[in-house]
Amino acid sequence: MEKIIDENKQGQPLVLDQEKENQRKLFIESYGCQMNFSDSEIVASILAKEGFNTTQNLEDADLVLVNTCSIREKAEQTVRKRLEKYNAVKKINPGMKVGVLGCMAERLKSKFLEEEKIVDLVVGPDAYKDLPNLIEEVDAGRNAVNVILSKEETYGDISPVRLQSNGVSAFVSITRGCDNMCTFCVVPFTRGRERSRDPQSIMEEINELATQNFKEITLLGQNVDSYLWYGGGLKKDFEKASDFQKATAVNFAKLLDMVAEKHPKLRLRFTTSNPQDMTLDVIEVMAKHKNICKYIHLPIQSGSDRILKEMNRLHTRQEYFDLIDNIKRIIPDCAISQDIITGFPTETEDDHKDTLSLMEYVKYDYGFMFAYSERPGTLAARKMEDDIPEPVKKRRLAEIIEAQRKHSAYRHQSFVGQTVEVLIEKASKKSDAHWSGRTTQNTVAVFPKGDYKIGDFVMVKINECTSATLLGDAVGYSDNN
Ligand code: 5AD
Ligand code: SF4
Repeated sequence: MEKIIDENKQGQPLVLDQEKENQRKLFIESYGCQMNFSDSEIVASILAKEGFNTTQNLEDADLVLVNTCSIREKAEQTVRKRLEKYNAVKKINPGMKVGVLGCMAERLKSKFLEEEKIVDLVVGPDAYKDLPNLIEEVDAGRNAVNVILSKEETYGDISPVRLQSNGVSAFVSITRGCDNMCTFCVVPFTRGRERSRDPQSIMEEINELATQNFKEITLLGQNVDSYLWYGGGLKKDFEKASDFQKATAVNFAKLLDMVAEKHPKLRLRFTTSNPQDMTLDVIEVMAKHKNICKYIHLPIQSGSDRILKEMNRLHTRQEYFDLIDNIKRIIPDCAISQDIITGFPTETEDDHKDTLSLMEYVKYDYGFMFAYSERPGTLAARKMEDDIPEPVKKRRLAEIIEAQRKHSAYRHQSFVGQTVEVLIEKASKKSDAHWSGRTTQNTVAVFPKGDYKIGDFVMVKINECTSATLLGDAVGYSDNN
């Protein structure tokens, strides 16, 4: 699953403006990837119309919803711990109802009702529009489950509420689901078939965000490069489309071009890309528009051809190098980040060394690294034994994290002495006298506040760096304001 999990955000309850006439209180929190956080905004928007105001106090809630992640076992354990906490609160507030949303709901279905006695409601990622009916069921004293996956649902017609955001950067989802069937990954089972959202509704949402003065948009999907709109329908059925549909189809490069053209002052990002689906025309569109950020999250998972094959990654090590070379040729200052899994079944020391040597070649700017976690139902779980001992997985992971730390420091060091554009997002976590923002390469930069404010594009002279952050001084506004 190609999505970034922001550790700082895990479990944050979502709070929206209060509607006076709304009587019931909803506590909603999210775990996992950005898609879950975005989905929770859609859920809150649906429930606002059903008489729910959001609350940050679990103890006050009439309804508690937890949007869950199944990507690794640890993610599921975190959610189970939260359910224990809700259970304790339920003893004080017996009227409180508890619902599980998202990937764990989809994976475990009604098992949740049997195993976790406190759960009243189980709703999969494609069934949120059914929440009003399901809540009625629960109110009538019955448990309610809807885990039907859809081939069409994109929630394109629901405008998510973003009141908890920093007002500067927003996420807009463009595809849902994934058809790639990587053998380790639970996403195709929990999120269903890949489908693309109507470009018109994407454009409308972005226009609205621009009107509200947002400065940066991230187009979101499990596999954004696979985006394809030809009037609706699954990507795999495109071949059967009419000539007219084919001629007027919008792929990811075209969508990116359209958005960048229409909003030259908006910074654009996208995540996540899959090496086998990323085409040269996307890289060329990135190079053509100044406002498309020079950063690609391009998971590799393993540097070994044999393991890539076992993972069903559908590209080789050499094809990945070719893609990296093309990116660096067309956009020399493009930052690249990775996802890597260590200890996939049968991984040998030589396979692991291939991953390290691949990292040495690419010298990624950042990385997200994980020990393999067997997920029930996936092809790897069914066909392969989870045979790499935990200490070996952990040691390989530590070596990969150390290589990444070195490469991040090397990449960040190259910015020292340069003056770069930074979009201010918030006060620095470490010092209230400093702003924190990101460069086009997605690197965090911190500098004294001066008279600048959140949402300004500022030119910052970089004086020094740590392995994760650039430190500098603002030297003026950028021409993007
Ligand atoms: N075990 C460990 N890591 C996994 N990921 C996906 N599935 C698993 C798994 N079963 C990682 C991949 C993916 C990232 C979001 O999570 O690296 O790109
Ligand atoms: Fe990403 Fe592969 Fe999982 Fe799809 S199946 S979400 S491409 S890791």
